Amino acid sequence: MPVITTIEDLRKMAERRVPRVFYDYADSGSWTEQTYRENTTDFEKIRLRQRVAVNMEGRSTKTTMVGQEVAMPVALAPTGLTGMQHADGEILAAQAAEEFGVPFTLSTMSICSIEDVAAHTSKPFWFQLYVMRDREFAENLIDRAKAAGCSALVLTLDLQMIGQRHKDLKNGLGVPPKLSLAGWANMAWKWRWGAEMLLTERRSFRNILGHAKGVTDMGSLAEWTHSQFDQSLTWDDIDWIRERWGGKFILKGILDAEDARLAVAKGADAIIVSNHGGRQLDGALSSLAVLEDIVKAVGDEVEVHFDSGIRSGQDVLKALALGAHGTYIGRAFLYGLGAMGKKGVTAALDVIWKELDTTMGLCGRRHVSELNRENLIFPQDIP
Ligand code: FNR
Repeated sequence: MPVITTIEDLRKMAERRVPRVFYDYADSGSWTEQTYRENTTDFEKIRLRQRVAVNMEGRSTKTTMVGQEVAMPVALAPTGLTGMQHADGEILAAQAAEEFGVPFTLSTMSICSIEDVAAHTSKPFWFQLYVMRDREFAENLIDRAKAAGCSALVLTLDLQMIGQRHKDLKNGLGVPPKLSLAGWANMAWKWRWGAEMLLTERRSFRNILGHAKGVTDMGSLAEWTHSQFDQSLTWDDIDWIRERWGGKFILKGILDAEDARLAVAKGADAIIVSNHGGRQLDGALSSLAVLEDIVKAVGDEVEVHFDSGIRSGQDVLKALALGAHGTYIGRAFLYGLGAMGKKGVTAALDVIWKELDTTMGLCGRRHVSELNRENLIFPQDIP
């Protein structure tokens, strides 16, 4: 068993273990991947201010996100096809998050369904909604999430159409996958992944299959997923979703202060500053670059959450110091899942927690709520 000390260790293991078509799906961005790259490189530009001889005993990363207690302000982001990084991926990730004491967010485009995850966990998780043209289906999803006891609804706004990802097109990722001979050979080579897949019956989009009108098999599922993302969605549609849900409501995919104000006007409990991990509008600014502006615009009225580019606890600390109330990790936990299933997700959370806790202490802070701009050194101030 290799010693895991960084998220990069997990990434390398996942790359070896997960078939190329699904590994690339996780580890890529749209078009030139400029935004995807800058999500991580912008973190490196900001440095940390070391303080010494400050009592750092009794540190704590415990806080709340939308009123719910969390062991650290790091939730698992909603990710589609998580059950393809590892058999039963959503269930395993949800269990790891539950044991760690952080929220797990189940994607509409998950492999395991809302009911599958609810049946295998004991605490409430969060549900992420994509609004589909079939409003009845969306209403039904909201009702199913409520019935399963989900404790927050995350509505994603930055995917009314899918940003083109070259690797996915070239690899033949689709429903069902259209792999080349090399793609099939690669899948056969990853025999442990395949053996685990064969042992589960949860191998397709179970939130959708058998629930959406006319979707009964892979063929109809393919057609449905291509046509259903609602390009006509506007701010006016948010009200019925919030009202039907009636609980904690989070709007995801905000990258502009003006949109942040509109989101607040819609009664969100939190917004997530996010560019979908660089998978949507390539050329957009990194999430980190816009975070402070958005905090300034709405930080007093709503919890500002952050994602896109976090690969360490130091990244989490930087986002918190810039005013984020909470953060999410996508790929950082997916690598862990692909590498070692539930143990890998726990390892990813452990790595991030240790880095956050140690960095907080060495910056002279004892609680995440004490972090602020003064803990950071910006590029223009680096001698
Ligand atoms: C995502 N993301 C995403 N977001 C969402 O709201 N619904 C979804 O189904 C998905 N699917 C998805 C799949 C994969 C493979 C990735 C990597 C991401 C975006 C996700 O919630 C989050 O915004 C990013 O992952 C954050 O960036 P990092 O942490 O991956 O850099």
